[in-house]
Amino acid sequence: MSFITIESSKLSTQEAYKLICGAVVPRPVAWISTVNKKGLVNLAPFSSFNYVAHSPPMLAVNIGSRGGSLKDTASNIVQTKEFVVNVATVDNFEIMHQTSAEYPSNISEADALGLVLIPSSIVAPPRIKLSPIHMECRLEKVISLGKGLNTLYIGEVVAFHLDSDIFDGVYIDSVKMKPIARLGGPFYAELGKIHKMEVLQQPPA
Ligand SMILES: Cc1cc2nc3c(=O)[nH]c(=O)nc-3n(C[C@H](O)[C@H](O)[C@H](O)COP(=O)(O)O)c2cc1C
Repeated sequence: MSFITIESSKLSTQEAYKLICGAVVPRPVAWISTVNKKGLVNLAPFSSFNYVAHSPPMLAVNIGSRGGSLKDTASNIVQTKEFVVNVATVDNFEIMHQTSAEYPSNISEADALGLVLIPSSIVAPPRIKLSPIHMECRLEKVISLGKGLNTLYIGEVVAFHLDSDIFDGVYIDSVKMKPIARLGGPFYAELGKIHKMEVLQQPPA
């Protein structure tokens, strides 16, 4: 192997974005629903996303700024302190991708694209019916990162909604769920071969 070494301090924002997005793959996609103060629903996907705690369960999503302003999702989370993460799958990823277009703040992607929404049980933002897992979140913490172009929003999951076709009451069947993952650039990936290994550590107490 021969390695090309690059010091991050010499990279432009664009170059750094391309490297980090190409290196950290595959990334799960959080298809986030929020509402603004008037109750208008906003939908958008985010793949700088993962779970960061299990007790209580917490998710973190990094939302970049757009032209120096907050994206609608970030603005709504800051205003209402609530959001819902809907899991993106092979069956919904084409319309999920459409919701990444830059709709004006006064237009709901759900209305524009005809997406069916279902009320949440605890938070105000609704759930996206096309998704098999919805996680209702309350904002826990906001962390501004680096040069201030990225902000991490950490939410506590206050309710899970799981489609009974993929959930047996204890475990989620990842194969049946068919999650879609984001790669670098315009690429997405499905699950490949599944490998089974003996679990070598104790589950959390
Ligand atoms: C699959 C996918 C993943 C994305 N991940 C992120 C992300 O992690 N952070 C981010 O700021 N934008 C991300 N985007 C771009 C946002 O979806 C896009 O800026 C969108 O217009 C934001 O919408 P909003 O203004 O309604 O919040 C992603 C787009 C796609 C298609």
